[in-house]
Amino acid sequence: MTQDELKALVGQAALKYVVPGELVGVGTGSTVNKFIDALASIKDRIRGAVSSSEASTARLRAAGIEVFDASEVEELSVYIDGADEIDGQGYMIKGGGAALTREKIVAAQSRRFVCIADESKQVPVLGRFPVPVEVIPMAAGRIIRQFAALGGTARLRLRGDAPLVTDNGQHILDVSGLSVTDPLAFESQVNQWPGVVCVGVFAHQKANVCLLGTSQGVRTID
Ligand code: 5RP
Repeated sequence: MTQDELKALVGQAALKYVVPGELVGVGTGSTVNKFIDALASIKDRIRGAVSSSEASTARLRAAGIEVFDASEVEELSVYIDGADEIDGQGYMIKGGGAALTREKIVAAQSRRFVCIADESKQVPVLGRFPVPVEVIPMAAGRIIRQFAALGGTARLRLRGDAPLVTDNGQHILDVSGLSVTDPLAFESQVNQWPGVVCVGVFAHQKANVCLLGTSQGVRTID
């Protein structure tokens, strides 16, 4: 199976976690796009969605699914999203699609995080994929130096020749060279640096269930 087919497989499998009559939290990325396509087939059985990015909002609306503002909703039963890396404990690196801040917000208001990913995303230790960090632009230089002190190399993410601007109007640093052996401590530490909006290590908001697409089918890890 191709990677695209594996993504479609887990996108479809995630439907079983959607609670009829309720709102569903929806992440961002190519795997989630497959989930949104599958969700469209049961749109009459859900109330709508809370989205983690402008891109997912546009896709949900195009599929005829109503999108609610996260701040109008107290709690969601489930949040479904992809990952750039996931380890055996459900800790993840996310933000390859630059949507990490809103993803973490919607994940935090959800009782259950279901991660959907193809098997290439599974790792023993987080860090091979550069850790995305959303930052306030005026703090970028200082944060780059703070990562250097930890042994990481932080680079400003570009779109074309200009810095990429997130849905929140901020910038992204991608930090390579780190081995995130204690994701909970790492997330807490970086969160405290002035100018960090969100670090793309999801340890405090880890996945409760992971649906991994493999050539043998969907493997559920919970
Ligand atoms: C976006 C994310 C995505 O979940 C992550 O990048 C995985 O994306 P894809 O499903 O396209 O591989 O965190 O900010």
